[in-house]
Parts: sequence; C-alpha cells; structure tokens
Amino acid sequence: MKFDTPATTNPIDQMKVVGKPTNRIEGPLKTTGTATYAYEHHDVAANQAYGYVVGAAIAKGRIASMNLADAQAAPGVIAIVTADNAGKLDKGNFNTAKLLGGPAIDHYHQAIALVVAESFEQARAAASLVRVEYSRSKGSYDLAAALDTAITPPTVFGTAADTSVGDFATAFAATPVQLDARYTTPDHTHAMMEPHASIAAWDGDRLTLWTSNQMIAWSVGDMAKTLGIAKENIRLVSPYIGGGFGGKLFVRTDAVLAALGARAAGRPVKVALPRPLMINNTTHRPATIQRIRIGAAADGKITAIGHESWSGDLPGGGPETAVAQTRLLYAGANRMTAMRLAVLDLPEGNAMRAPGEAPGLMALEIAMDEMAEKLGMDPVAFRVLNDTQVDPEKPERPFSQRRLNECLQTGAEKFGWSKRGKPGATRDGRWLVGMGVAAAFRNNLNAKSAARVRLDKSGTVTVETDMTDIGTGSYTIIAQTAAEMMGVPLDKVVVRLGDSSFPVSAGSGGQWGANSSTAGVYAACAKLRDAVVQRLGLASDAVFADGKVKAGKRSFALGEAAAGGELVAEDMMEYGDLAEKFQQSTFGAHFVEVGVDAMTGEIRVRRMLAVCAAGRILNPKAARSQVIGAMTMGAGSALMEELAVDKRFGFFVNHDLAGYEVPVHADIPHQDVIFLEESDPTTSPMKAKGVGELGICGVAAAVANAVHNATGVRVRNYPVTLDKLLDKLPDSV
Ligand code: MOS
Repeated sequence: MKFDTPATTNPIDQMKVVGKPTNRIEGPLKTTGTATYAYEHHDVAANQAYGYVVGAAIAKGRIASMNLADAQAAPGVIAIVTADNAGKLDKGNFNTAKLLGGPAIDHYHQAIALVVAESFEQARAAASLVRVEYSRSKGSYDLAAALDTAITPPTVFGTAADTSVGDFATAFAATPVQLDARYTTPDHTHAMMEPHASIAAWDGDRLTLWTSNQMIAWSVGDMAKTLGIAKENIRLVSPYIGGGFGGKLFVRTDAVLAALGARAAGRPVKVALPRPLMINNTTHRPATIQRIRIGAAADGKITAIGHESWSGDLPGGGPETAVAQTRLLYAGANRMTAMRLAVLDLPEGNAMRAPGEAPGLMALEIAMDEMAEKLGMDPVAFRVLNDTQVDPEKPERPFSQRRLNECLQTGAEKFGWSKRGKPGATRDGRWLVGMGVAAAFRNNLNAKSAARVRLDKSGTVTVETDMTDIGTGSYTIIAQTAAEMMGVPLDKVVVRLGDSSFPVSAGSGGQWGANSSTAGVYAACAKLRDAVVQRLGLASDAVFADGKVKAGKRSFALGEAAAGGELVAEDMMEYGDLAEKFQQSTFGAHFVEVGVDAMTGEIRVRRMLAVCAAGRILNPKAARSQVIGAMTMGAGSALMEELAVDKRFGFFVNHDLAGYEVPVHADIPHQDVIFLEESDPTTSPMKAKGVGELGICGVAAAVANAVHNATGVRVRNYPVTLDKLLDKLPDSV
C-alpha cells in the first residue's frame, strides 16, 4: 500500500482499541522473568560454548605481538578468534569489520580476541592469559584542542553541513539585543539495562543469531556483507530487548564475534559484553561544543539566529547533528547553521536517543532562556512570540501540524508558571527554588514497513513482522492496530516480532517505529479484510466489529472466513512525498522545578511536566511511559551524565554504572505528562508520530534554566553539578 495523499476516515478512527491506555501485552512475561532475552536462549541450540571478549588496552597504535599459548592451554578452552585467524571481514555497512581489531587498533577496548571455552568462567580466566604487546601511537582525544583541525563534512545524512538564509552576520550586528555564547555537552553512553549479547549457531553455511538488536533487516544485511555470505543464509532473532537507545541499531562485537567464534569452535557460542567493556567497545553520543548567536529587536522578535556545532569521531565518521532543531524551531529572517567535525580517536560516536536534537536543544534552549532574560521577557512569552508555522529555511513548506505554543501555554498554566520568581528570589527553608522551561522538538520520520497477518478458524489474528520492541510498547500498539482493523478484542490478537523470517519492518530507531510499524500492520490488515470479504462473498463495505463481519443482513463470526483454511495476507506501507511537502515534526514543552541547597549547591529535581503534541497517541499509557523515561534520561543528562575522557590515553574512564551516573527513583520525585489531542493525516493512516525521542528533547535545558532561576547562576557546561555553582551561590545563608 502506498501512502501518498493525506489520510481520510478509516477503521483506526473508531478508536475502540487504538488510543486507549492499554497494559503491555508482554508485560506479564517481563515481570515474571519469562520473556527470553538474548543471553537466555539456553535451549535453542544444544552444546553452547561461551565466548569472552578481549579488548585493546591502548586507544591507537598496533599490536606488536600477541601470545596465545597460555590462553590456549588453559582449562576448557576450545578456540581463540583473532584478526590473524578470522579470515578477511568486509567492512560491512557500518564499519563492522572494525569490531575485530588488530593489528591496527582504532580505539580503546576495541575487541582483539574472543576466547571460547566450555564455561563462562573458563573463557574469562583464559582471556586474562592472552599476552599482548602494543606499539602505541599518538592519538587525538580532546575535542576542544582539535577545533582548529575540524572540517566541514561534505554532507550529513544527505543534507548540507551548513545552511544560510538572508545575511546572518549583518543582521546580527545590527540587533539591539544580542547573545553570543558557547555551550558544551559531554560524551554520553546509552547505559541500557541489557548488555549487548548474542548466541550464534551455524548449520553448514547457515547462521542463526539470537541477539538484542533494534534493526533486524539492517543487521542481517550487515552481517551478510561482513561475513561474505548470502543474506538468505542468516536468521536474526531478537524478540525482547532490554533497552537500546540507539546503541543496538547495528550489530556490534558480540554478534560478529559470536558468529566467528561458533565457526571456529564448531558449535554454538554465546557472547555478552561485560558492562565495563561495553562503554568503550560500543558507540556513544559524542560530546559537542556549540556556539549560539541570537539577535532580537527590542520587542523580542528574533531577526538573526546562528548555531554552530563541533563534534568529533573516528576517521570516516560523522558529526553530531546538534544544529538540526535550530533550522526549524524558531522564526527569524537571517539564519545560519554549521556543523564541524574533528577526528578523535575515542570510541565511535553514533546515535543515542534523539541524536542531534537532544544535545542541540541542551544548548539552544539555555540560549533562549538567556535571551528572554536580556529582553526582560518571560521565557514562555519569548518562545511563543518567535513561533513559525512554516519551515523557516524554506517558507513555502508548512509544518503539517505545529502546536508548540499550545504546549508552552498549557504547560505554563498547569505547572503554575505564574508563581515563578526572579532568579535567586524563592526560598523554601534551606532550598533555593526555581522553575525552568524549554521547548521540545524532534522530527517525525516514516519508514516503509511490512507485516503479515493470519486469521484462523477460531477468529485469532496473528501478526508477524520483524519489528522490534526495545521497551517501547511495540507489541501492544501493533496488537491494538490489528484488533481495531479486524474488529476483534485484544486477546484475540497474537503478535510475533523480532525475527528476520518475518516481513521487513521499519525497526526501532529515530522515533519512527510506532507510526511506521503500525502503518505496515494497517496495510496487511486491509488486505486481510479484503480476503475475508471475498471468502465470505460479502460486499466490500462489510463492517468488522465485535469479532464479526457484517454486511447488510448477513453476519459471520470472523473465524468462519478461515473455516476452510487459514487466511494469510501480507503487505508493506510505503510513502510518497508528503514528508517533503509538509515538515512533519513533534513538539513539546518541558517544565521543571528544582531546589538547590543554598549551602552545598546540591541540586534536586522537585517536579517535572511535559506537554506533547505528537499526532495521534496510539496507547497513552505506553506513550506516557516513553516520555517519563525520556524525561528521567533528560534529567540525567542535565545533572549527572558525563563520560570522563582520559585525554592522555584516550578512553572513557568511568566505564561502568558505578562511575557513570544515571538517575535513580529517588532523583525523580514527580512527573506529569499531557498529550494534546491531535491526529496528523499526513503521516500515515494511523495519523500518529513518535514520542520516544521527543520526550528527552529540551529536558536538560529546562533543568539548567530552573537551576538558574533558583540561584541566578548560569551554567553552560553540562552536566550542571554543584561544583559549578558553589562559589557563585548568593551568600544569603
Ligand atoms: Mo535511535 S538513537 O535512532 O535508537
């Protein structure tokens, strides 16, 4: 099915099942520990051996020598895979060959060997006996020191690294109220609960991988290329995923080395990345340095806005797209954005929840707060005044829907924004109290997505698609979609996900999963409805409701259509050019109240509210969970999260969950989420968009702005920690 004209009325609009706050259908499996995660597939292949990854102990250079003798002689060892014996690996689609380093070393903890043994403990013990001599070469590890060497990437995901409208420099120079400030965001790690893990089993030249992966079809293609085998000979299975956040968009070391280890050992091999290895071995959200210039007339209208961002990556990598939102968020006739990329020999920078916008808004939305202060305007009113209903870089392109102002105004009212005092003016005992606001913005993307649906004679509808559920609620919204389309209750729907033997879906990434994957299920169900109608000899306007199909006076139980054998329909939703004609984005406003201890500078989040406008909300309960999770992650990036770079030796020092701090329950006392009622007919027949990444966008800046309102201290370098406040707190204690 092709979606190339805005949706009209369709069965989803009944909203009998879709749009209802619905518990996760796989929730009981997860809460009882019976959902099988990658490392737990103990029974799928007999005689599993254990692989343990050896990571490089230098960041850049070469392996001078590697002595495996002691490791090979250790108890239980079956095989050791290194670059010397693995055979040639193709670089794959995502530099996959680099997942096994040697003799050249590209970054710290890059895998250089996999030791396979009878037990995990034996593999780990033997791995410690691998003797490696390195010759270290000089690397580049300090973004701030590498700015002079940064280049302009030719393109960034198919768009220009730089954009320009009007004459920014001249207009900025002429503005009466100006801001020119520099902000920094540190490297972040995904820190998902479930580590990267895979079990690989070969049957002749056919490989099956039970793994934890967001994008099944990408990863099948990548594994095939890397190993030089046909895609058809690889099956990937990933039914449950304990978080991904972008860290599992691609196959990683565990998958490639499990496959190589299983080949070498001649039996199935399972590999999990230990937590202390994950952070330097896998990808991360790269640090940024951002310069923002905003010029406004005395009435608060922005006339010039400029945003430059510097980030680093390994040779051949790409920049963090931190200027993305500034191209679309606020009006202003004269504008410029620019992305610069330096070579850094740290682990690979890549996507993490809302790549681009998340760190971009961390800077932009402090800048907007600073401008409002300079103008003597309320920060909500300043943003509302500078709203735009068209793409500010291409004014002929409207937003499909844009209710940012309503998000801001609704939030201000519900949060009690009018009680916000002047900076440093509100006290609650020893706490300095402040409120902050920030806009949330994230683009909506649609990706083609296919599904197969089966109807059996009991009236049960089974959906199969390689879509993944990374904790987001895919199982449930897909079940809701099929139930709505086929007119059956939820308990008559079975959803099977995360298997490459199912039709290729959009996968989970870029907050495109919810709308895209359900649209694919919609298309397949539309075909199944046709098949049902035909089988029963009904008119095409038959009604599917209450487990029945009715046309005129005739009514059948749905299962009767399958009395003579299962009915199967498969289709894919594909997209025309509506996303070019309309700018499809999601919007929100975050409000945060913090308390800052007047004596110690300790910062506590007291309340958070998000108001989101993101198309039809398919399952308000799951969507709320997505947003509160993202708000929590945003609070972490505001106050805690920072990979500390060892600039001498080039690695992230705090590479475990003891040293890399993320919020716990006690850090997040109260959160509310409001979804504006909306449906966007330009996105798909589901009229939905994504929320999973929107929820984190802007949160950190709202926290930082609240800290400023509480204390009068402006911190422009994340995370906002008490040491950055301590000598500047008002001495009113
Ligand atoms: Mo997302 S950062 O595309 O999983």
